[in-house]
Amino acid sequence: MDLRLRDIRPDDKPALQRLHARLSPETRYRRFHGVKGDLTRGDLRYLTEVDGRRHIALVAEDEAGELHGVARAVGDQGGVEAELAIVVADDVQADGLGTALMRSLLERCDREGLRRITFEVQADNHRALRFFQGHGARQARTVGSVCTLVLEREALRADLG
Ligand SMILES: CC(C)(COP(=O)(O)OP(=O)(O)OC[C@H]1O[C@@H](n2cnc3c(N)ncnc32)[C@H](O)[C@@H]1OP(=O)(O)O)[C@@H](O)C(=O)NCCC(=O)NCCS
Repeated sequence: MDLRLRDIRPDDKPALQRLHARLSPETRYRRFHGVKGDLTRGDLRYLTEVDGRRHIALVAEDEAGELHGVARAVGDQGGVEAELAIVVADDVQADGLGTALMRSLLERCDREGLRRITFEVQADNHRALRFFQGHGARQARTVGSVCTLVLEREALRADLG
């Protein structure tokens, strides 16, 4: 499958809803840290109407316009730190798409001058923990069932090579 990565757009709302509908309950749970039904109109607005600087979201799109993965970084007001979240459709996981999305998003974060990226992952989500640690993030704290990882700028740059 030929996929291209690009910035999300406001007119991606229907395709994003379709991607969300395709996700297994576990993948939704891992992404949203809880049970998540359909995306609401408010969710879709928030997730697609982004400024591309403080809130950056990249999608992987096929030739037919269907989306297979999304990675986003939401920055704080000062432009110092951003929280990153990522999801890849179950049927295309373990095929390198997460890595490609992550790399592009980290490049954008670096260009925006962010000093620190954080990730919130469920403590038993070993695949995502390995995935983020593989990009240089270190575990900072665990509160309840949620683990926070931190990727400092130096490690981010080392990961980007
Ligand atoms: C985490 C996630 C984004 C990874 O995306 P992906 O497209 O599967 O990742 P890749 O194919 O690029 O693989 C990345 C690494 O994970 C490993 N991996 C991927 N799928 C795996 C699987 N089923 N079993 C074991 N390892 C796996 C790969 O071997 C690879 O490791 P490597 O770089 O050492 O080779 C994806 O699993 C996902 O969407 N999970 C649900 C949502 C989630 O947990 N998000 C994180 C919190 S926001």
